[in-house]
Order: sequence, then structure tokens, then C-alpha cells
Amino acid sequence: MRTEHRREDSIVTITACNRKELAYFSKMTKSTTDPLKKNAVVMGRKTWESIPEKFRPLPGRLNVVLTCTNRSLGEEVIVHTSLEDAIKDLHNRQDVETVWVIGGSSVYDEMMKSSYCHRLYITSILKDYSCDTFFPEIGSQYISVSDPTVPSGIQEENGIQFQYKVYENTEYVSIKNI
Ligand SMILES: NC(=O)c1ccc[n+]([C@@H]2O[C@H](COP(=O)([O-])OP(=O)(O)OC[C@H]3O[C@@H](n4cnc5c(N)ncnc54)[C@H](OP(=O)(O)O)[C@@H]3O)[C@@H](O)[C@H]2O)c1
Repeated sequence: MRTEHRREDSIVTITACNRKELAYFSKMTKSTTDPLKKNAVVMGRKTWESIPEKFRPLPGRLNVVLTCTNRSLGEEVIVHTSLEDAIKDLHNRQDVETVWVIGGSSVYDEMMKSSYCHRLYITSILKDYSCDTFFPEIGSQYISVSDPTVPSGIQEENGIQFQYKVYENTEYVSIKNI
């Protein structure tokens, strides 16, 4: 899949929901323009633990977990103690194309406030739920944009409607320039 945002230092973030949307999440986070490269998914320790063991690490992507504690999560998983270190480390790797930050709350919040954050890929569920974890407020530096690879209009699965949204950071600065 070819998308205009796929630069080596692109940083994007997303929120996930149902089967159709999980397929979208998988496709978006796995797709690279360079077949010799793969993408990275960066997540907080609790998000990592929320993925059933049989599904982790997420296949076809470099899994990066943030934690303040010194721990190993196996040979295939990279552990970092700061988001900035993780982003800089991934940027320096020649085998990584796009870095996707996949939550949770505080990781989204830190990333969205960073000038390294290029785009937000968000799925908005058009239904009310009781929640204990919340997506941060989207700052005014983000403007709605269209991406031809993202389905437009209202989507529906099992009677639940949802919509894919894309925002771009008007204050985005390539990590190469910092
Ligand atoms: N719908 C969605 O799109 C979506 C996406 C992601 C997650 N979730 C859900 O959200 C919940 C988890 O989210 P959460 O916000 O509670 O937790 P989280 O962000 O996934 O994890 C928080 C933990 O990550 C580590 N961490 C976070 N930022 C760090 C940083 N800058 N440097 C070092 N370590 C850092 C810390 O781990 P230590 O305590 O080990 O130091 C912290 O306690 C789960 O239920 C998950 O299923 C939903």
C-alpha cells in the first residue's frame, strides 16, 4: 500500500476497536513502500500486557514497549525507558520505515504533544461506552486531512458505526531536523 505520509521518520498514532477495524489497524501498521523494511509499533507496558499472549508480539512489525522498570520481554521485543529514546533509536535503524505509536493514554498524550508526531490515524466509534482509559484531547495544531488509503464515510460492523479520521500536525518537524 502506498501512502503519501510514509516517510522514514513519519510518526503516527491510532486507536483500535472491532474486527474490521483491527484488520485496518493491521494493514496500516504493517504496510511499507520498501519491501526490505518493516514498521515499528510503540506501546506502553499496559497496552503490551492487554494483548493476549498468543497474539504478541504483533507479527510483521518491530514491537517496542515502554516501561520504567528494567525488564526483558523476550528476544523479539525492544524495551525502552523513554518515548524519546525509542523514537530516536528507531529513526536510526535502517530497517524501519514508519513508527506507529499505538497507546495507551499517556503514550498517546506525550507523542501528540511532540513535534515529531506527523499524523494521527483515529477510529471514532459512534456509540457511547463506559471506559476507564481515554484518548487525549487533540490539540489545535492538528488539522483534518484526507488520505486516499483510508476508507471514507461511515463504516459499520455488527450494527456499530465507526469512522476513520486522519489529522496532520501543522507543527510537525522531521526528527532529521532536530
Ligand atoms: N483502543 C485503543 O486504541 C487502545 C490503544 C492502546 C491501549 N488501549 C487500552 O488501554 C489500556 C492501557 O493503556 P494505559 O494508558 O492504561 O497504559 P499504557 O500507556 O499502555 O501503559 C502505561 C505504562 O507504560 C509505561 N510507560 C508509559 N509511558 C512511558 C514513558 N514515556 N517512558 C517509560 N515508560 C512509559 C509505564 O510502564 P511501567 O509501569 O512498567 O513503568 C506505564 O505504567 C489497556 O486496557 C489497553 O487495552 C486501547
